[in-house]
Amino acid sequence: MTRPAFETLSLHAGQESPDPASRARAVPIVATSSFVFDGADHAEAVFDGTADGNQYGRMHNPTVAAFEERLTALEGGVRTVALSSGQAATTSLLFALTRPGAQVVMSKEVFGGTFSVVRKLLEPWGCRVDAVEPTPEAVAAAVGPDTVGVWVETIANPSLSVPDIPALAEVAHAAGAPLVVDNTWGCGGYLCRPFELGADLVAHSATKWIGGHGTLIGGAVVDGGRFDWQSDRFPAFLARDARGRTYLEQSPEAPFAARVHDLGLFTMGMTLSPFSAFLALQGLETLPLRVQRSCAAARDLASWVARQPGVSRVLYPGLSGHPGHEVAARVLKRGFGAVFCFETERVELARAFLDRVEVASHLANIGDAKTVVINPWTTTHSSLSEAARIEAGVTPALIRVSVGLEAVADLKADFARALAGVPAEL
Ligand SMILES: Cc1ncc(COP(=O)(O)O)c(C=O)c1O
Repeated sequence: MTRPAFETLSLHAGQESPDPASRARAVPIVATSSFVFDGADHAEAVFDGTADGNQYGRMHNPTVAAFEERLTALEGGVRTVALSSGQAATTSLLFALTRPGAQVVMSKEVFGGTFSVVRKLLEPWGCRVDAVEPTPEAVAAAVGPDTVGVWVETIANPSLSVPDIPALAEVAHAAGAPLVVDNTWGCGGYLCRPFELGADLVAHSATKWIGGHGTLIGGAVVDGGRFDWQSDRFPAFLARDARGRTYLEQSPEAPFAARVHDLGLFTMGMTLSPFSAFLALQGLETLPLRVQRSCAAARDLASWVARQPGVSRVLYPGLSGHPGHEVAARVLKRGFGAVFCFETERVELARAFLDRVEVASHLANIGDAKTVVINPWTTTHSSLSEAARIEAGVTPALIRVSVGLEAVADLKADFARALAGVPAEL
């Protein structure tokens, strides 16, 4: 049988047939902390990995496993580990990758929470992180013999530039390092499938388009299964555990996922609840439809906003004037994303806009079925210094819009009212 299309996988992968116990068509929520063993031999075998079975809810749960399998299929990877948040996915991935003395080359435009892991955990631990422009030239200049990873996001926030993943993969591989893509903005693989473009590892915040309704916090790490970890640069993959096995021996097809499972779940306990996994599965079922529609609406609304009085600039990779349009057209499939940013001529107008919108919600999230707006300067990026914010493309009058599923005409009416009539003295 040929590989089913993305739309089919988003409904069926991870649960090909109804639940055998109940005949339920939906994936059941298995709300249990623990699982009964068949006997002493079975318990021992499950714990030493020689028999299939669920050890304990911190590491294993059937609802979570169905979500993991579905995401693996959608991303075209070999194994996914679901975690309690996107932040947990980032943290586990970085700790699985790095060690004191190692270097990571990171796009200087990554999500602020990712920099928190760097500044508060990795650097004090002795790992060096160099933040550079996510261009092949800048990354090539930064990598060296200690580089253990190159980290970029599919669409940078808020400049909305799109790194050239194939070119970056070549640079990373030439330096002996894997390319990691935080593909949160790639919408579960619908807009971007980094493994097809040469990336080795993918991270996700499932809180955004995967969940898709602003109802859960979750994350995932997907192992592409192609990177060769047998090198002195990655001693953790050659080390033996108490049972005398390396990650490569435990899981030859996905040793990185095995290490993330060990660190993120077994050791740090950043487990996704089965309830959240169920919501993520529900989200995935409609993800293709939602993302397609939100991308079309974002393009329409972004071009319309660009023509409104008081608006000085619009950033959207789908507009031909965007500096990253050409790369975006190569790297993104099926759409240019559901987020655009605009800047008003005056800061007061941006603030008044946020106070006056009624259809759009003013909150700190993206990827919701409802349209959401925020001023990154005073919120999501406010923990960065002013200079760092400017450097990251965040300006005081910038508004980020994550377009949902409302009728575009209603959004235009809402935005027109919110932008109009702000007194000049404001
Ligand atoms: C690109 C990206 N990665 C990771 C995260 C962290 O995800 P979470 O909020 O689910 O912890 C976010 C959250 O905004 C994000 O935008």
